[in-house]
Amino acid sequence: MQKYSDRVNRLSFSQTFVMSNKVREMKARGIDVISLTLGEPDFDVPHNIKEAAFEAINNNFSHYSPVPGFLDLREAICGKLKRDNSLEYLPSQICVSNGAKQAILNVLAAVINDGDEVILPAPFWVSYDEMVKMMGGTSVFIETSIETDFKMTAEQFENAITPKTKVLLYSSPCNPSGSFYTHEELEQIANVVAKYPQITIISDEIYEYINYDGKHTSIAEFPQVYEQTAVINGMSKAFAMTGWRIGYSACPEWLAKGCEKIQGQMTSGANTMAQKASVTALKTDPAEYRYMIDEFRKRRDLVYGLMKEIPGFRVNYPEAAFYFFPDISFYIGKTLNGTIINDADDFAMFLLDHAHVGAVGGVSFGNPNCIRFSYAASEKDLKEAMRRIRECLEKY
Ligand SMILES: Cc1ncc(COP(=O)(O)O)c(C=O)c1O
Repeated sequence: MQKYSDRVNRLSFSQTFVMSNKVREMKARGIDVISLTLGEPDFDVPHNIKEAAFEAINNNFSHYSPVPGFLDLREAICGKLKRDNSLEYLPSQICVSNGAKQAILNVLAAVINDGDEVILPAPFWVSYDEMVKMMGGTSVFIETSIETDFKMTAEQFENAITPKTKVLLYSSPCNPSGSFYTHEELEQIANVVAKYPQITIISDEIYEYINYDGKHTSIAEFPQVYEQTAVINGMSKAFAMTGWRIGYSACPEWLAKGCEKIQGQMTSGANTMAQKASVTALKTDPAEYRYMIDEFRKRRDLVYGLMKEIPGFRVNYPEAAFYFFPDISFYIGKTLNGTIINDADDFAMFLLDHAHVGAVGGVSFGNPNCIRFSYAASEKDLKEAMRRIRECLEKY
């Protein structure tokens, strides 16, 4: 007998995990697979952050924390937002969560009702659409392509707004495209949002520090939308702390209270030792951790050079995050080695089976013409992966 709720039946497993599980199975069968599927830095957590966690354990920070996080962490987050983004927040506007993922869910849960619309510029992070479904909302997608660097215009955005629109949700820098919105582009989007007071912007800035060529702008910097914006950020990508599960939202006070209410009934305050370690991470000069970004930049340039040589790939030059999102529409509709390629997911599966390189098809990112490669991997693996793909596809 079917036991699942409608809520669970609405959801899909993340394509990223589907592909990485398949890679794991192949590896277990002894196949030499290079996985470029997962979105996490391959660095160790910096030493001073680990030391702070040990100290927190020794000092017995082992009890429940306040639901929105320890006050010193919320103060450190306010300090970071001021230092890096010129944004003024009070600790009462911050809610610390189990990763940015929960922070986004909290905000969605706090503002959308069944049937409300959430605008998602595509490509988007795979979890957004699923989170919207979980909360009973409906996603409205805005298509973009490699020609526009995968970014929507303010005009496209305004055309997608209806009386049911409650949220605009995007990541800048973007997973999966590696693009980011400039100050001018965000200003135009902010000017549109300001005309619609029912809209909340969820601005996911988790890749803020992994930005090679430009200055990061948070849309909350535009005063006309400060009161309508939830800034999302966290420790996972900037400090290679994916498993420590600390993220946060910075919101107008009423929304922060809503997040606290939801989180208080769901999971309570986030892990206490990781919270204490995060205070140290956020108070350290970001220049101390710059070596990770410099390394990512080197790999970006390496992969860009090699990927451009792969037949049938159209490659964007990602300015941020650690992903490539090449357009592989050249192969769609073709039969490769007896396999019909209907979309980018079929193509990703083909590459896994025939080149033994794991990547994620773009369908669940909202773009069936592109596939995502993470370059959070060693130079050796990146070179070998690009060689395998080129050799595999040269035959076609
Ligand atoms: C765009 C984006 N937002 C949020 C997250 C989740 O971050 P966290 O590990 O803090 O939950 C990810 C992780 O891949 C991401 O790519």
